[in-house]
Parts: sequence; structure tokens; C-alpha cells
Amino acid sequence: MTACELTPSILSCDPSQFRPAVRELMEAGVEWIHFDVMDGQFVPPITFGHELVASLRSLGETPFEAHLMTLTPERHFQAFVEAGCSRVTFHVEVAPHAHRLIQTLHELGAQAGVALNPGTPVEAVRGVLEIADLILVMTVNPGWGGQAFLDPMLRKVEQLRSLKPDLTIQVDGGIDPVHLRRAREAGANAFVSGSFLVQQLSLADGVGQLRAACG
Ligand code: DX5
Ligand code: ZN
Repeated sequence: MTACELTPSILSCDPSQFRPAVRELMEAGVEWIHFDVMDGQFVPPITFGHELVASLRSLGETPFEAHLMTLTPERHFQAFVEAGCSRVTFHVEVAPHAHRLIQTLHELGAQAGVALNPGTPVEAVRGVLEIADLILVMTVNPGWGGQAFLDPMLRKVEQLRSLKPDLTIQVDGGIDPVHLRRAREAGANAFVSGSFLVQQLSLADGVGQLRAACG
């Protein structure tokens, strides 16, 4: 289990600059690139599909992960894995068969992440902690970048860490150096950041600040 995985999101980047942004993040040494996929149903916005991911895959070796904020995530698994994602995260709120979906992702050769909305308790994923590769604790309500970090979510991170010491626990939403440090103290070890990075002098500069907060 890596102590501190930086998994930046390009959601807040100018779409016309996705290529240079991904290249810059790769060169800055992040562990993953996080693609926020929204279908306009599970969350109101619509973002992008697997074709975008495929178009960026040749930029380098950094692993890609898809965060599927979609009503029927299993319909998209194969497309995003074939587009070059090594990890796919779906929301437990739309997955009564979460255990089988994780098996499906493993059969496709990908890691499986399961996401919890702010209103969803940790109990919703207790049955899959042994087979999930990652649990994503949303620290904002999904759908938009640039929202404020929800402090009460730190309790869920603590609960998950006590349930499974070797689990990859990712937090996503409102992450800047201060909140990264607080989430890390609570037990998180993977960090998505979007708008904080685009607000810095450069994406690389923002990554440096987050890496420093990892300690
Ligand atoms: C929100 C997405 C997050 C978001 C994070 O639905 O899942 O990944 O882009 O963005 P910031 O860091 O701006 O909160
Ligand atoms: Zn996300």
C-alpha cells in the first residue's frame, strides 16, 4: 500500500489543454491520472467518455483511473479498460451487485474501486472490503470541481482504516495541502485534486505542494 498516491483530476482543466495538462502531470511524477466521467444522470453534468482517455494514453506510462459517476457503470467497464485505464471506480449507490462488478473488473484485468457519496455510510461497502482494491470516500458531493471539503467525511476514512489497515483509501473533493494532510492523518493514502492544482502557478507547482503535504 503506497503511503501517498497523488491521483489528480483534469476535470477543472481547460478541455483544449487536456493534452499538455496530462503531460505536465505525468512529468510531475503523479501516481495516477483521475478521469471524472459523468453521465448527466447519476450527476447533472456530462463530461467525457472513453475516447478521450484513449486519445491521451500515448502521452506516457502513468496509470489512468476512471471515476464513473454514471448510473450503469458496468456498461462502460470494458471500454475504459480498453482505452487504457488500469483502475475503474464505480459508486456503490448504483451497484446492488458491487461484489460481482468488482469480479468483472478483475476479469478484465483492472483494479476495482468503490466510491461512497457523502451521505452513504461505510457499512455500504463492508461486504466488499476484502476484494475491492480501493475505496473512494467522496469529500464533496459528486458532480463538480471546486467545492469545499466536507470535514465529517474524515470519520468515514478513520472507520475504513480501522476496518482494513492495508486498504487503499482515496479521498476526492476539495483537496489542497491542508486537507490532504488532515485526510492523511485520518488514514487516507490516495488523493484526488483538481481545482487546487489549476489555481497554482503551474500544475507541477501544485503537485509539488501536495507532495510536500504528504510529508
Ligand atoms: C467531483 C469529482 C472530483 C473533483 C475534484 O465529482 O469526482 O474528482 O473533480 O475536484 P476538486 O479537487 O476541485 O474538488
Ligand atoms: Zn473524481
